[in-house]
Amino acid sequence: MALRQKKPLDLSAYRVPTHIAIIMDGNGRWAKQRGLPRVAGHRAGAENLRRIINACVEFGVKILTIYAFSTENWGRPESEVRGLMKIFARVLDQELDDLHAQGVCLHHLGDLTGVNPDLQGKVLRALELTKDNDTLILNVAFNYGGRAEIIHAVQQMLADGISPDDLTEDLFSSYLFTKGLPDPDLVIRTSGELRISNFLIWQAAYSEYYPTPAFWPDFGREELYEAIVVYNQRERRFGLVPEES
Ligand code: IPE
Ligand code: IPE
Ligand code: MG
Repeated sequence: MALRQKKPLDLSAYRVPTHIAIIMDGNGRWAKQRGLPRVAGHRAGAENLRRIINACVEFGVKILTIYAFSTENWGRPESEVRGLMKIFARVLDQELDDLHAQGVCLHHLGDLTGVNPDLQGKVLRALELTKDNDTLILNVAFNYGGRAEIIHAVQQMLADGISPDDLTEDLFSSYLFTKGLPDPDLVIRTSGELRISNFLIWQAAYSEYYPTPAFWPDFGREELYEAIVVYNQRERRFGLVPEES
């Protein structure tokens, strides 16, 4: 069977966001619609992530942050959590060499303690292997919560003896898991939900939001292109007045 031709998508007339963050939501509903178990939706979601990473490289996005597993997601049925952990481990086993060859630099946002030691080891090896790559930074928010991140930052600052007078927004940002990286320009949430769900609550203070009804496994390269086109229609004001006035 001939490979399906990729539709040419030209972004030369647009500003490509430097940093895109995605709340990859709707795997369960995608599966339910097809009469499949939820974990089949997560497998389809992982396959889609591969497509979106390729599209980010193609479009020239420099940083992609994905919400893979929240601190709250531990409360799901044990079989679903186990299925998700298996998928994460398999994706690392199967995709790491390709991601490395593509120039993807992996970062982890969140807390690895409490995660199965075997999976922890895989994550740490992946971070080490890809640390000097610079085509695309891929931040994986895994066992991540925005509130937990802020608490972690405050604990570290107290431990470092930071004085209240020295605390600035820049200093605070340097204690977050995203230290050294610019804030997301665009936050995409799939599956039609209109909430943040504890994702990047500090960093996304001025991000543009793009909710889309598509379930995550159906949000592909063309949908990402459309999100970037819509982003270009937004005027980011950062609390100032419109440019023409
Ligand atoms: C997102 O899909 C994946 C994770 C939270 C790990 P969901 O599993 O939340 O899918 P829905 O929202 O139930 O459809
Ligand atoms: C957010 O999705 C977490 C991830 C995508 C990993 P959820 O499905 O967990 O969020 P809620 O429960 O709908 O807010
Ligand atoms: Mg969900």
